[in-house]
Amino acid sequence: METLTYTHNAAAAAAVAAAYDAPPMAYVRSYGCQQNFNDGEKLRGVLQDIGFGIADAPEQADLILFNTCAVREHAEQRVFGNIGALKKLKEQNPRLIIGVCGCMAQQPQVVEKLKASYPYVDLVFGVDGIDRLPALLARRLGGARRCLERPAERGALVEGVPIRRDSGFRAWLPVMYGCDNFCTYCIVPYVRGRERSRAPADILAEFRALVAAGYKEITLLGQNVNSYGKNLPQPVDFADLLELLCTVPGDYRLRFMTSHPKDAGKKLIDTVARHPQLCKHLHLPVQAGSDRVLAAMNRHYTARQYLELIDYAKKTIPGVTFSSDIIVGFPSETEEDFQKTLELVKTVGYMQLFTFIYSKRTGTKAAQMPDPATHAEKAGRMARLLKLQEEASFPAVAALAGQDVTVLVEGAGRRPGTLDGRLDNNLVVEFPAPESLVGQWARVHLTGARAALLTGELVQQNRKDD
Ligand code: SAH
Ligand code: SF4
Ligand code: F3S
Repeated sequence: METLTYTHNAAAAAAVAAAYDAPPMAYVRSYGCQQNFNDGEKLRGVLQDIGFGIADAPEQADLILFNTCAVREHAEQRVFGNIGALKKLKEQNPRLIIGVCGCMAQQPQVVEKLKASYPYVDLVFGVDGIDRLPALLARRLGGARRCLERPAERGALVEGVPIRRDSGFRAWLPVMYGCDNFCTYCIVPYVRGRERSRAPADILAEFRALVAAGYKEITLLGQNVNSYGKNLPQPVDFADLLELLCTVPGDYRLRFMTSHPKDAGKKLIDTVARHPQLCKHLHLPVQAGSDRVLAAMNRHYTARQYLELIDYAKKTIPGVTFSSDIIVGFPSETEEDFQKTLELVKTVGYMQLFTFIYSKRTGTKAAQMPDPATHAEKAGRMARLLKLQEEASFPAVAALAGQDVTVLVEGAGRRPGTLDGRLDNNLVVEFPAPESLVGQWARVHLTGARAALLTGELVQQNRKDD
C-alpha cells in the first residue's frame, strides 16, 4: 500500500497571500465521530499551513468548511439545514468560499444534490482530500467557479499532515483508517474505503511527540482497532501495538475505540489488565441481543460469545466498566428480538449506552430488507431501553461514592464554581475547584451522583495515583 508524505504547497500559499489584503480566516465545523473530529483538526492544520487564521464563528470567516458525517439520516439533514443557512452570509460577502467535505461528500447522490440545489457551495471533497485541499483552494482562488467532485478512493495513507489540535491535554491518534466489516446497516465502509493500518513506527513517533508535548490522555482511533495490522508487512496486531506504546515513559493514560466484539480477544483484555496506563474501560458495541438480528447485521458473533468476552474481562480487569452502541428497530426486529437486547443490557450492566434508532442508508444491504415496524413502535422500544439503562446504571454510578479516584480535569462543570474530571473508567465527576486545574490530574473523593454524573470533593491537585 502506498504511503504519501504531506508537503507544503508553496504555490497555494502564494495564491492565498495574493488573494487577500489581510490574512484570511477559516471556520471548520466537524459533525461526526472522533475520526471526523481528528480530520477537522488536520483541515485546520493544513489551512494554517497555507496562511489562514482560524475563526471561532462562521460570521468571521472568509472560508467555511463543513466536515460532515453520513452515519444516520438525521446527521445529514442537520448539515443540509446548516448549509442552507449560509446562503445569507454568501449574499452579504460574495467572496466567501463555502466547502463541504467528509463522509457525506463521498456519496454521489449528495454531490449531485449540492451541485443542483446549493449553487453557493464552492468546494466539495471527500475524506481522502485533506492533503489536497491547498491545491483545490488555489484552483478556486485562481478563477475556477466551483470545484465539486466525488474523489475516487485513493486507498493511500498520508503521513505528516499538519494538525491544529483542539485540546492541549487530550489527543486523538488514528491507528487505522477505513472499515472492511460491512455491517449491513452501515455506510462507513462505503464512505471511508478499505482498511489501512499506519506503520507502528509512525504511530509510535506521533505518540512520543504527544507525550513529550504534555498530552495526558491519548485515544487511539479506528473503526475496528482489532483489525489493526492485518494489511501490514510485519506481523503485528492491536495488542502488540498497545504493548509497544506502553513502553513509552510519561505521565499519560491511553484509551482506544472502537473494538469490534468479533475479534476483541483474550490477548487484548490481558494487555489492558497488565498496563496501568491503559484505561479500565472497554467500548464494545453489541448493537443487538438477538442472534437472528446479529446475523442479519453481519456482526459475526452471538450474544453468548459476546457475554463470554464480557465475563472474561470482568474476571481479568478489576473495576472494568463497559459501554456499548445499540441499534433499536433494525429491519425485521420483533418484540421478541428486542426483549433479548433488554436482557443482554441487564446482564452486562453497562455504565454508558449510546442508543440509535435504525436509519436507512442508501447503498447498504439493510436498505433492501423489509422493515415493517413503525417509527412509533421503534421510539417506544427506545424509551424502554433508556429507562432500563437508567434504572441499572444510576445506582451503579452512585455506588462508587466513598472512593478516592484520579481524574483528568476537562473543563467547567454544569454548576457554577465546579469542574468536570474524567475517571479512568470514563465516568465524569463534578467537583468544586478553581479553573486553573483544567488539563491537570487531580485526586477526588467521590461523594454521590446526580443521574450518571458523579459528584465529589477535591482531595489533591496535580496528583495521579495508580
Ligand atoms: N466502527 C464502530 C462504529 C461506527 S458508527 C463500530 O463498529 O462499533 C457508530 C455507531 O453508529 C454504530 O456502532 C451503530 O450503533 C450506529 N450506527 C451505524 N449505522 C447506523 C444506522 N444506519 N442506523 C442507526 N445507527 C447506526
Ligand atoms: Fe460500520 Fe460495522 Fe465498520 Fe463499525 S465495524 S464502521 S458498524 S461496518
Ligand atoms: Fe465517522 Fe460519521 Fe464518517 S461516524 S466515519 S464521520 S459517517
